Amino acid sequence: MEHKEIVHLTQEYGGDWAICHAGRILHWVEILAEGKPYDKEAVWVAAHLHDWGGYPAWIQEGVEHYDRSREVAEGFLRERNCPDPFRDKVLEIIQCHHGGPAERSFESCLFTDADALDLLGVVGTLRIFCMVPRNLKGAIMAVQRFREMSLKAITFEKSKEIAQKRVEETDYLLKKFDEETFGIY
Ligand SMILES: [Fe+2]
Ligand SMILES: [Fe+2]
Repeated sequence: MEHKEIVHLTQEYGGDWAICHAGRILHWVEILAEGKPYDKEAVWVAAHLHDWGGYPAWIQEGVEHYDRSREVAEGFLRERNCPDPFRDKVLEIIQCHHGGPAERSFESCLFTDADALDLLGVVGTLRIFCMVPRNLKGAIMAVQRFREMSLKAITFEKSKEIAQKRVEETDYLLKKFDEETFGIY
């Protein structure tokens, strides 16, 4: 695949937010794979395309962003004549990036865990506060929602251990927040 074009479009649709999120996912996938082989190209492409459906250029009301991202990615990959097995692998990763059946591909499981970790802990909490600007109550509620979703989606033991640490970080952060605001926010 033409990486330059994908980076360019991801930057156009999601800005540094999307590019940096993809970069962190790629780091986590590498760590979580623990040396086992996986399709790096499929993961790379999915890391960039998986949230396109949540960005203003593609978002559709009433459609989950992972369904929309899958739809957009399918059109994109078909137009570029990707081989079917590669396209299917990327689309599965995108479709299931917030959770999916246990019997899906290794790449898809790795990716879901990586994305979930980026929604937990200090990084996850700060990201979620960015998603809901000037709405502290809404952000706190979103932190709880994303936490439940992420913990449910995770597959690997190693990810679960890291997630547990990140949940503790979030609890500490939210406790301090509550103290420092006198619960007024
Ligand atoms: Fe997502
Ligand atoms: Fe994501």
